[in-house]
Amino acid sequence: MSDALVLLTVLAATAAGLWAWRRWHYPSFWLALGFPIVAVAVRVSWRRIALGCGLTKKRQRWWFTTVPGLVASTGIVKVRRRFQRVAVDTKPFMRLPMPTRHGWRVTLHTLEGQTPGDYTDAAERLSHSWGVHAIRVSSPRPGRVVLMATMRDPLVKVDDLPPSPELLRVTVGRLETGKPWTIDFRTVPHWLNAGATQSGKSNLANALIVGLAPQPVALVGFDLKGGVEFTPYTPRLSALATCRAESVTLLCDLVGLMIDRMGLCRQAAARNIWQLPPALRPVPVVVLVDELAELYLMADKSEKDEIAKTSTALLRVAQLGRAFGIYLFCCGQRIGSDLGPGVTALRAQCSGRICHRVNDPETATMTLGDLDPAALASARAIPAETPGVAIVASQDGQWYRARSFYVSEQAAEHAAHTHAHLTPSWDDITTHLFEHANA
Ligand SMILES: Nc1ncnc2c1ncn2[C@@H]1O[C@H](COP(=O)(O)OP(=O)(O)OP(=O)(O)O)[C@@H](O)[C@H]1O
Ligand SMILES: [Mg+2]
Repeated sequence: MSDALVLLTVLAATAAGLWAWRRWHYPSFWLALGFPIVAVAVRVSWRRIALGCGLTKKRQRWWFTTVPGLVASTGIVKVRRRFQRVAVDTKPFMRLPMPTRHGWRVTLHTLEGQTPGDYTDAAERLSHSWGVHAIRVSSPRPGRVVLMATMRDPLVKVDDLPPSPELLRVTVGRLETGKPWTIDFRTVPHWLNAGATQSGKSNLANALIVGLAPQPVALVGFDLKGGVEFTPYTPRLSALATCRAESVTLLCDLVGLMIDRMGLCRQAAARNIWQLPPALRPVPVVVLVDELAELYLMADKSEKDEIAKTSTALLRVAQLGRAFGIYLFCCGQRIGSDLGPGVTALRAQCSGRICHRVNDPETATMTLGDLDPAALASARAIPAETPGVAIVASQDGQWYRARSFYVSEQAAEHAAHTHAHLTPSWDDITTHLFEHANA
């Protein structure tokens, strides 16, 4: 065999080995090989990229420069070198890049007059220059910014829904950082879930149903699409309203339940149901609303009273529900003030916000509030090809890009049937509260 052929065989075998390593164990491939190469490239290219992205500053420096000088006696032009003060482009100091699960992060020392906002504005240019999927900017302390690069979109494919070990806590997907995306009703009691049609709102509700079905909780549905979404889950639902009239009755029942629980807590000198002894503690209720706007839309004046009742009852549940174990998860395409003042008040009570792909900037602003403008831009940039991707904002003021696990209607239906025996009846929930207390 000729030398060239041996060389070619070795190269092909190495390439195949690297490909297989990358495919079958990406984390070790990334740490051992990918990241060191990328880290060197990032450091080497930093001056050029900082200059191109407008992140450098002109500073006066003493510089050794060449100046042409005329030797008068002979008329010959000679080049001389001497120290001179010149303006040079200075780049922000970059520390060593560190590997992360999906890319790398690096800390920069900002230059005088710069703010983290300057780096946020340049984030898209930086990601294109380095050829990475996205750069997120944060500032752990004044004078420092951290650039977090993700090499590829980690949300293109996310794994399956894992079981939820804790009460009222469901891992519904994955955050862009690689961490689990968890909805915890004990920490954030009420949620708004907005998005255009086919953006993944109902899929997320399915994920919640699958996660909550095995837990000792009551699930209540409001499906204003005439019940087409939630009716298959009735075995695990303690109550379901499918039209406005049913919604008014069910919401009034919920308010009544809340008042009963208030009385029970007062009697036991407890501030909320979690302070009650376990034997007395009533079952937590998670209320799922699909197509929230339908609760507020008025076809003619005769519906005005009904809408006023619905809106007030829902708002009362949102205001007082947390302490008495009643939690809300409201889905809708638009959750704006154009639906009436009740919606604005309800929105203010829902501290958990999820914004799927939206068609207009107003819906993103309505859902996410006046969060970082980058979050709003990110919500509008969600492509239609990745349903389930959303911007998630929570109480900590942070926002994350996340994707829900895919949960088919069949999977949710199966969970509802499997755990049907855990469904408390609505009568049991509403009427036997004081009987237990007095027993
Ligand atoms: N996380 C996900 N991964 C993969 N596919 C998803 C995901 N979420 C939703 N989908 C798919 O996207 C489609 C639309 O999802 P879904 O029905 O949840 O949208 P929606 O926002 O409720 O729409 P509508 O407003 O019309 O009810 C479905 O076919 C669903 O299978
Ligand atoms: Mg839907």
